[in-house]
Amino acid sequence: MHFLYVLSVVAMVSGAQIDTKYYDYSIEDYMKVKESRNFTGKVILTTGSSSGIGEGIVKLFAILGAHVVVTGRNQTEIDIVAKEVEQLSPQHLKPLKIKADLTKTSEMQFLLNETIKTYGKLDVLVNNAGIGSMAQLMDKDFMKSYDSVFSIDLRAVVELNRLAVPHLNQTNGTIIHISSMCTHAPTNLGLDYSMAKEAMNMMTRVMAMELGPYIRVNTLSPGAILTAGFRDSKVPIIVKLRERALHNAPLKRFGQPLDIAKGVVFLASIDAEFLTGEELVIDGGLIYNYGGIIE
Ligand SMILES: *[C@@H]1O[C@H](CO)[C@@H](O)[C@H](O)[C@H]1NC(C)=O
Ligand SMILES: *[C@@H]1O[C@H](CO)[C@@H](O)[C@H](O)[C@H]1NC(C)=O
Ligand SMILES: *[C@@H]1O[C@H](CO)[C@@H](O)[C@H](O)[C@H]1NC(C)=O
Ligand SMILES: *[C@@H]1O[C@H](CO)[C@@H](O)[C@H](O)[C@H]1NC(C)=O
Ligand SMILES: *[C@@H]1O[C@H](CO)[C@@H](O)[C@H](O)[C@H]1NC(C)=O
Repeated sequence: MHFLYVLSVVAMVSGAQIDTKYYDYSIEDYMKVKESRNFTGKVILTTGSSSGIGEGIVKLFAILGAHVVVTGRNQTEIDIVAKEVEQLSPQHLKPLKIKADLTKTSEMQFLLNETIKTYGKLDVLVNNAGIGSMAQLMDKDFMKSYDSVFSIDLRAVVELNRLAVPHLNQTNGTIIHISSMCTHAPTNLGLDYSMAKEAMNMMTRVMAMELGPYIRVNTLSPGAILTAGFRDSKVPIIVKLRERALHNAPLKRFGQPLDIAKGVVFLASIDAEFLTGEELVIDGGLIYNYGGIIE
């Protein structure tokens, strides 16, 4: 308002007419913030939503009234999450359930086709599915690890974006890339994973340039999130990472899938309508205190 006042004074002095609505939104737009978490009527597709962070994301969107797609590679897990999602939805909306392997073009097409056939549109695509890696350059099987990490963590995301953009363009929709804290706090493990995620961060920026003003594209980079897989792992390096993450994070706790889901909901909401090409790091401050050498 201060800015507006100064401009008005300048306008009065210079005698020019200023269209005040150009400088600020109407008060109705301020009021809309109170409703910005209401996703009633919105269609959300989150890959890897049958477990972990993706499961948290679909649960929160369901609670906020959205139509969600539950997808992954394990039908049992899809069924369990879908049942929970239906109970959480205020209107008890049945989610669309799709088993799909994102390394196969035909299955990705099927996922998109079924989503559009069922709901008639797409508002939000969350590229969450991915696989981790602890590989190093000189490992015997590094190139094998590289190929599988890049095919799921990067190539599948590019291809799914290509399939979704024509639909998102019609709804002024948004894309959210789930990346990783490791793009800022590199370690000596996971070369292929870190490279794929860093490429994803750049994809966000370039796509934001290409797809505006119709589609917003942003990255969310989680820190150490206590999914079941991370919590239960007995792999010595993971155990070590877990201990370090808890000890070193300024906020002294692990993240929960809900911490990430809240960030995704913000990025998808009208509260983020002037935000594109950006990255939101949700890690309890861990990136500043992680340490690059694991062992
Ligand atoms: C959300 O919005 C819908 C209409 O778009 C409305 O019917 C519903 O009451 C709203 N829900 C809440 C919790 O405000
Ligand atoms: C699918 O998930 C269930 C429940 O988590 C698990 O018991 C089962 O082993 C999984 N199946 C495959 C093929 O991974
Ligand atoms: C998906 O739809 C496209 C065009 O509408 C069609 O070319 C393709 O065969 C469909 N694929 C699947 C797997 O349903
Ligand atoms: C999005 O829609 C606009 C307006 O209809 C159109 O000009 C533009 O080419 C579309 N972009 C894509 C990527 O489909
Ligand atoms: C979508 O975005 C375009 C470009 O900013 C705008 O002209 C149009 O009114 C928007 N459509 C809707 C339905 O919000």
